[in-house]
Amino acid sequence: MKLKQSVLLLAVLGLAVGAAYASDPKIEALARSCNSCHGLNGVSAGPSMPSIGGQSEAYLKNIMLQWKSGKRYSATMGRHFKGYSDEELAGLAAYFSQLPWTPVVQHADAKVLAHGKEATDRCETCHGATGGKPDDAETPRLNGQWAHYLALELEKYRNGEVAMTHKKMRKNAQKLEAADVPAVAHFYAAQPE
Ligand code: HEC
Ligand code: HEC
Repeated sequence: MKLKQSVLLLAVLGLAVGAAYASDPKIEALARSCNSCHGLNGVSAGPSMPSIGGQSEAYLKNIMLQWKSGKRYSATMGRHFKGYSDEELAGLAAYFSQLPWTPVVQHADAKVLAHGKEATDRCETCHGATGGKPDDAETPRLNGQWAHYLALELEKYRNGEVAMTHKKMRKNAQKLEAADVPAVAHFYAAQPE
């Protein structure tokens, strides 16, 4: 309950900031159609829906274009994006990237967090020590992202059963043991920045 309330509060705060970026009303209307899953201003209520507000423009655009072309695996979103023009996808990426990144801090057991921290040594160069300082615009923020979602995505990069495009990310994920995945996901989900 407490978590739900703080998600709502964060979303409302986000609205005030979001409103400052007046953008194309057509794109804003499209963006509203994302709210039912991704939450108001891209701050998701979890657990398998990722927050997208405040991820970088290049990252969001990359993913949506890869889904549209079928280059990247997706369960549902690929089909969803086939109906959008490249310009609309670029507009949506710009729109969501201008919103603030709003970590939803999820607490976890100290032992799990210590395991997660240890397993993320080699991830630091690209994601930063706590997942909040990506080293370039193609790299997503992980701090305060939903743990359940992070574990699902990590497993896709790790097990290689579906098409994930980023070679280095796949190689790094493959160095994790299956048992590291939930610990790593909880570690990033617990980080406020
Ligand atoms: C029916 C629910 C639903 C709707 C509506 C929806 N999404 Fe998603 N989205 C998901 C799910 C679930 C995922 C997690 C990946 C997957 O399962 O394919 C996702 C993942 C994403 C990601 C990847 C995030 C990341 O960190 O990798 C982006 C970007 C995205 N969606 C953008 C959008 C945009 C923009 C819209 C509106 C035009 C939208 N989505 C509408 C369910 C939805
Ligand atoms: C060489 C840089 C690099 C390293 C090292 C790296 N990552 Fe990544 N990571 C990326 C990039 C870039 C993406 C986006 C890839 C894409 O577009 O498919 C990503 C994506 C992710 C995602 C998906 C997030 C989302 O919102 O969908 C997770 C989770 C993740 N990384 C965790 C890790 C973990 C855990 C490690 C260490 C075991 C790691 N990364 C090491 C660059 C890196």
